[in-house]
Amino acid sequence: MPEENRNLIHNRKDEHIDIALNEDVESKIATWFDSIHLIHMSLPETNMKTISIKAKLLGRTFSAPVLIEGMTGGTKRGGEINEKLARVASELDIPMMVGSQRVAIEDPSVEWTFRIARDVDPNIFLIGNIGAAQIIEYDINKVSRAISMIEADALAIHLNPLQESVQPEGDTNFQGVLKRIDYLSRELSIPIIVKETGAGISYETALMLKQTEIKAIDIAGLGGTSWSAIEVYRAKKVNEELKMMLGKKFWNWGIPTAASIMEVKSAVGDKFEIIASGGIRDGVDVAKAIAIGASFAGLARPILKALSGGEENLKRFLKLVFHEIKNVVFLTGAKNIYELREKPIVIFPPLKYWLESRNIKLVR
Ligand code: FNR
Repeated sequence: MPEENRNLIHNRKDEHIDIALNEDVESKIATWFDSIHLIHMSLPETNMKTISIKAKLLGRTFSAPVLIEGMTGGTKRGGEINEKLARVASELDIPMMVGSQRVAIEDPSVEWTFRIARDVDPNIFLIGNIGAAQIIEYDINKVSRAISMIEADALAIHLNPLQESVQPEGDTNFQGVLKRIDYLSRELSIPIIVKETGAGISYETALMLKQTEIKAIDIAGLGGTSWSAIEVYRAKKVNEELKMMLGKKFWNWGIPTAASIMEVKSAVGDKFEIIASGGIRDGVDVAKAIAIGASFAGLARPILKALSGGEENLKRFLKLVFHEIKNVVFLTGAKNIYELREKPIVIFPPLKYWLESRNIKLVR
């Protein structure tokens, strides 16, 4: 890779981290989990101590339905973050995804910044990460390097048309991506997850993916970190007005997370597992996501922020999330997270109107 491009990607990675930590990059449209009410049960007839929040993802059982979402790698700082995240994932027995591995596929000298997560613990469930633009450019051997680099248990292919479209220099050729996903889902030996990056996956997109042999969809909906917002701050620094204006216009573009979960579930039923992410901020959000059909939930920015206060701080934050999930299970009279799907729920506007106008039924 030419030196200039290498520096560009490396700087961008650390810039993303700094902006996500220090600026307001949250979407101004909510996830719409607030439109979902679970019904309180004053006679739960269970002992909270016996409640399990253990959850399954891609054939493995974890202590809680919480995934550390893909964020970083490629720089020294990214490597240090991945190492710490892996230690927390190992201790708390939850899965972890690394950030886009494109940089290390093109420049093997930074492979260690991803590999370090595997070196922490040979047994953590580690998910690799590669972009849509790369899968149409790379042959299968090159894609496989993302897997071998970290001995990945699964590979996430991220779809980020929004982020690319608000960057004047963005990679906006998405022609042929579905065909490549289909091919890779049949040829690669580990499960493939298709993930968004904060704009959500629709019923129609899910139907297209249904023809493939992927195993899970991470819907990464609107309501949390906005990639357009991140691009606004990057553009501001270098005074790129067009990019700034584009980013501002599309700050809140996408499908709110709760709506996206329900759209995808109604399209794919039980064919794929659904990971809910994008604006999941506490255990109540996780429980609601599972109640409407997701199998698991993922958090990105809150994890990065908690980690900036140290590993112990991140563990405390995640244990609180686990406790909140358990509370919801208890207070709805369920015995485990899966029983949440059998409990009554009430859906208010705007989510109610969205579902009516899209003719989406609650499937769980
Ligand atoms: C991300 N995200 C991301 N996703 C991905 O597939 N590959 C990547 O390299 C990155 N990089 C990245 C960096 C940082 C700093 C953040 C905050 C996020 C997107 C992430 O995985 C997730 O889909 C969204 O951030 C939505 O989740 P939250 O942040 O709202 O919990």
